[in-house]
Amino acid sequence: MNLTIIGTGYVGLVTGACFAERGNRVTCVDNDPAKLDVLRAGGVPIYEPGLDHMVARNVDSGLLQFTDDVAAAVDGAQVVMIAVGTPPGEDGSADLTAVLAVARAIGAALTGYAVIVTKSTVPVGTADQVREAVQGALTRDVPFDVVSNPEFLKEGAAVEDFMRPDRVVVGTDSERARDVMSELYEPFSHVREKLIFMGIRESEMTKYAANAMLATKISFMNEIANLCERLGADVEAVRRGIGSDSRIGYSFIYPGIGYGGSCFPKDVKALVRTAKSVDFDAHVLNAVEARNELQKQRLVERIVEHFGDDLSGKTFGVWGLSFKPGTDDMREAPALVIIQGLTALGATVYAYDPVAMGEAKRDLQPLMDAGSVTLAEHQYAAAKGVDALILATEWNIFRQPDFDALKRLMAAPVIFDGRNQYNPERLRRRGFHYVGIGR
Ligand code: UDX
Repeated sequence: MNLTIIGTGYVGLVTGACFAERGNRVTCVDNDPAKLDVLRAGGVPIYEPGLDHMVARNVDSGLLQFTDDVAAAVDGAQVVMIAVGTPPGEDGSADLTAVLAVARAIGAALTGYAVIVTKSTVPVGTADQVREAVQGALTRDVPFDVVSNPEFLKEGAAVEDFMRPDRVVVGTDSERARDVMSELYEPFSHVREKLIFMGIRESEMTKYAANAMLATKISFMNEIANLCERLGADVEAVRRGIGSDSRIGYSFIYPGIGYGGSCFPKDVKALVRTAKSVDFDAHVLNAVEARNELQKQRLVERIVEHFGDDLSGKTFGVWGLSFKPGTDDMREAPALVIIQGLTALGATVYAYDPVAMGEAKRDLQPLMDAGSVTLAEHQYAAAKGVDALILATEWNIFRQPDFDALKRLMAAPVIFDGRNQYNPERLRRRGFHYVGIGR
């Protein structure tokens, strides 16, 4: 099929590459010339395992193309996907400016029937606005349908998630569009049986409900962890105890330093706003967000309990900066909140991440200029001479470090484990002072 995808962020680029991989002719549109240069050369502007080879392969074969020309890309496409950003506006609601501008550009360029798909995470009711925007911009009388097909991929596993999803949700009110979407997913053998068709509003809501449910699990577990701390119980045992109940399950019940990334914080806030707009007070969602904000401060609180609230003259090593392992994405990364909290109390920080150093530099530059943060060359350099080491992101390379070397390097053997990766007893036997989350 001929497919056009507008927006080459995480969702757009992964979607484009994966559809090209299954033999479709895909044109990806973006208005950022620097990004287009990288992509046309077969490169990838983000770190995502497996994506670089897939993009290069399909650019080489001519199935995947990149352009900044919306009109040319839309002309002749059977499916046009909107995958541009929906950043939070000042009040937390999703900002639809880019989505609706793209919808108008699509309308102005349509020359024949096309299915227009919203891939971006958009509030319930957006498809109606997209339909109006397209309709209003049409230059000739062309039929079209608007479909909601939200994306559930996780950063760091995006290609795998796309190729072998748990489900693909398609919201549509048109038989014709339903046929086109079935045909589009037909070559994905792992997807075919997992297509779930529903109404458009239900599909839009499914995306928010899924992210909000996962965020709720995390905030719930962080709350239980904080309670365990005060009651002298180890939340890790409790986690195993409840996760073994098949109704609860093990996933997304890992306590830590709060959820970050480009989806959970933004989507929970947007759903709270949507609720407000219909005079509904979303008590559970409010609490999920409030707990997460507090949780990002929790490790700093524990550090203050140990060192006092004047950290001047103290140095800390921070391992891991991205919001989770497997990505260089620093958006809403809890590590940033921790570093800001420590430096605000006078501390100096040595930070290291195996992949996100370039991204982190952008966020940390003011603190680097002020001399309170230094990016370390490698993980052990970040531990040299420090009063304590903080594990903020559970990358594999931090899982089994050389603890004897660490002990020799550090000014004092103190570890704050923001992801409960280490065995407290074993570390204590080795002479470390260990502080985890909820234990
Ligand atoms: C998420 C959803 O999983 C995905 O379906 C959606 O399309 C986009 O948002 P992503 O943001 O890539 O994906 O990351 P995810 O792996 O879900 O992790 C989100 C955050 O939750 C991370 O900061 C992670 O560290 C944290 N987390 C996750 C926990 O603190 N505990 C857990 O048990 C799981």
